[in-house]
Amino acid sequence: MSQYRPAVAAHWNSLYDRRDPSSLPWELSKPSAEVDRWIKSTAPASKVLDLGCGTGLNTLAFAAAGHMAVGIDISQSAIVHAKQRAAGSGWPVYYCVADILALPISSSFDLVYDYSVFHHIPPRNWHLYKEALLQVTAYGSRYALVTYLQEQQAGHEPNVIIGDYGNMMYEPSSEAIATLLRPDFYLASSSPARLGSRRNHRAQHLQFVRV
Ligand SMILES: C[S@@+](CC[C@H](N)C(=O)[O-])C[C@H]1O[C@@H](n2cnc3c(N)ncnc32)[C@H](O)[C@@H]1O
Repeated sequence: MSQYRPAVAAHWNSLYDRRDPSSLPWELSKPSAEVDRWIKSTAPASKVLDLGCGTGLNTLAFAAAGHMAVGIDISQSAIVHAKQRAAGSGWPVYYCVADILALPISSSFDLVYDYSVFHHIPPRNWHLYKEALLQVTAYGSRYALVTYLQEQQAGHEPNVIIGDYGNMMYEPSSEAIATLLRPDFYLASSSPARLGSRRNHRAQHLQFVRV
């Protein structure tokens, strides 16, 4: 675990340090339909936490809608871009460098979301991911994610794929995620989604409630 963070951070920093991070395949020009839905279904002035916020597009959209939004990412370079994006907006947004798997936050949020991050977490660390969720949620908090999913719902072993940018991806089954989160989170909805700037990668949109 101690060597995990510097290696992962260095990998993502090298991608975000490109001259134009907007050319990265996951960078969108506006929040996706799922994120729009999360924003619209969140009670006014809620506390929301964006896990793996990247350059902060979604976090800022929540802040613009009047929520108190916090975005964390393991990549310092991503957070620099996120802060530039928000500079002068006056909206209630706060970005910081942090590892989801060793989250330095203990207050609870009304909504915690993960857009396109879970599939980068190695299964050996999923228990730490869940610990982080328990740390930042309370009874009734919502947790939502959009993640790549196994084409074949074969079982609990994720497919391991190396993406075009050298990103390790561990495609889980939705059952594996639900099993991980049980009994602390109730699966409220599950529907197909698309990921990537060309929106051509099959993914799944899952929404949970902490019980
Ligand atoms: C595909 S990008 C998605 C970024 C952002 N959610 C978006 O939709 O634009 C995955 C992000 O997860 C971040 N990430 C990967 N592992 C992480 C970890 N353990 N803790 C925090 N962030 C992490 C990466 O730095 C990267 O910004």
